Amino acid sequence: MPTDILFSSDLISSDVQAALPKGYTIRPLSSEDYEKGFLDVLTVLTTVGDISKAQFLERFYYLKAHSHEYFTLVIVSPEDRIIGAGTIFVERKFIHNNGLVGHIEDIAVDKNQQGKKLGLRIIQALKHIGAKTGCYKVILDCSEENVPFYEKCGFTRKECEMVWYI
Ligand code: ACO
Repeated sequence: MPTDILFSSDLISSDVQAALPKGYTIRPLSSEDYEKGFLDVLTVLTTVGDISKAQFLERFYYLKAHSHEYFTLVIVSPEDRIIGAGTIFVERKFIHNNGLVGHIEDIAVDKNQQGKKLGLRIIQALKHIGAKTGCYKVILDCSEENVPFYEKCGFTRKECEMVWYI
């Protein structure tokens, strides 16, 4: 386990770790993951851009300074490469008695590793963090194409997503 990690590894579900294929590990994002392909994995989602190591670290340490809100985890292959990633952002509300809502974001599994239940394990691990940090619900936005995947992860369809681009 790297020493400079985003949040406490106590929040990583041991059941999810045990369910991974042999040689794979799940852990919080580390400041060393720039070299291990973290940003490459995110390219399955959308454009990532040409982010330098310094820019990566600037964002990493911002998130780490808010580690009670941002939880980005990764799956590491037996070859020590990042092949999966996901985030839960914990929002603090006034409604529902100062309730907490978990927002799942940026779920990505390397193209060559899809179909091995790694996406499911990422979601299970993020739901565990949501429950442990006291969220009363966990929500996400996704494409129509990914609805069956999230249904298999225990989510149900509710309302709709709106967007305004700047
Ligand atoms: N349609 C139907 N079923 C699906 C789909 C799909 N698109 N994707 C996965 N499943 C099913 C699998 O067949 C499996 O079913 P089973 O339990 O009956 O065998 C189950 O869902 C779990 O699948 P995994 O093997 O865990 O899926 P995988 O590791 O391939 O990860 C993911 C799925 C994350 C969607 C991956 O394909 C990926 O990275 N896609 C590109 C990026 C993306 O779209 N990310 C999600 C964006 S939405 C967000 O971030 C909130």
